[in-house]
Amino acid sequence: MVCSIFFIIGCQSTETLVRNTENQNSEEENELNHSSESNSNNTNDQVTEDAVEYEHDSIEETPVPSVEEDIPSLAAAYAEYFPIGAAVEPFQTTGLKSELLKKHVNYLVAENVMKPDAIHPSEDKYNWENTDKIVEFAKINGMELRFHTLVWHTQVGNWFFTDAEGKPMVDETDPVKQEENKKLLLDRLDSHVRTIVSRYKDDIKSWDVVNEVIEPGDPEGMRASEWYKIAGPDFIETAFRAAREAGGPNIKLYINDYGTDNPAKRDHLYKLVKELMDKGVPIDGVGHQTHIDLYGPTVTSVIESMQMFSDLGLDNLVTELDMSIYAWDDHSDYGEEIPEEILQKQAERYHELFEAFKENKEILSGVVFWGIADDHTWLDSFPIERTNAPLLFDKQLHAKPAFWGVVDPSKLP
Ligand code: GLA
Repeated sequence: MVCSIFFIIGCQSTETLVRNTENQNSEEENELNHSSESNSNNTNDQVTEDAVEYEHDSIEETPVPSVEEDIPSLAAAYAEYFPIGAAVEPFQTTGLKSELLKKHVNYLVAENVMKPDAIHPSEDKYNWENTDKIVEFAKINGMELRFHTLVWHTQVGNWFFTDAEGKPMVDETDPVKQEENKKLLLDRLDSHVRTIVSRYKDDIKSWDVVNEVIEPGDPEGMRASEWYKIAGPDFIETAFRAAREAGGPNIKLYINDYGTDNPAKRDHLYKLVKELMDKGVPIDGVGHQTHIDLYGPTVTSVIESMQMFSDLGLDNLVTELDMSIYAWDDHSDYGEEIPEEILQKQAERYHELFEAFKENKEILSGVVFWGIADDHTWLDSFPIERTNAPLLFDKQLHAKPAFWGVVDPSKLP
């Protein structure tokens, strides 16, 4: 179809609108992306470049971001199984992205703004505004919420680990002062957890209490983080107990980690969780990040791990799902032209994964994607800067084959 003058004007104004919104978002996002773990987002440059090309070229070549009205809702398709969620930044709660979220998900988590350094940047300062925005958006739209994460070894202020004299606690060699430091750190943690949980306990029911505390390569399989070096495993117990005491019995408390299907990681995690449970530490479930790729792990290993934790009486949640189009050790780059067969393979693998999730809905209470569309994903800059496409919607926010693999495979070629 060739655009008439009327359509050209129509198309231009749509594009301008999108561009303005996205540029504004870009500024906000730059402010948020202060840490090495934050996402990069090239969408705005892309949209601008596309627009320039569009003025010189033909309009039908330029896909415009939009929310497709005529496709099913992802969350509605899974209504009888479990909620479907996405990680978001506050700026995505307005504009086109918010429309995509409203149509397709009924569960939200913050991509960055609930992390310790963002919400509690210094001992006497909490930043509530950004989390409040997400809470408000979720409430208005009837969505459930998760909190990610009360404790982590990265994206956490150094102030937690600095003693009264301003010295890093990990450098202390005097055993008496080491004990004092441990107490100070656990007191700070207790107060951090109670303050945040008390504020949001009525709005947020699902909480990542600790994130990534297992590392099979470290002594005892426990990540040698500053938390661990200063306080030993007690920091985990302190965080869970404080969360339960502040939040009461109705909030669900999770231990979250990546690679939970990997036997080495899984078995250390299992041992830790069992010890915690035997001691009466209040823990409700395991969050499986599920940052997977086109080539691994097997769907069977993902489900087997969930089954093991379920047998312990715990819930399972998929907390950060995405699927890189590259193998984990592959540093190549398809550039903007991702081969069709790769997108097709991704659709088949997503299909297989969600079929298994549906079959195991009794042991799985939710699936949260780490993002919603390929215009905004941490995998564009990890492990290197390149094009990746790990989600169900493309950079124009349109359904990819992967979407159909999950929602209606009869639509796949
Ligand atoms: C980990 C963290 C998330 C996020 C992702 C990728 O999985 O738990 O908060 O930072 O890495 O960015």
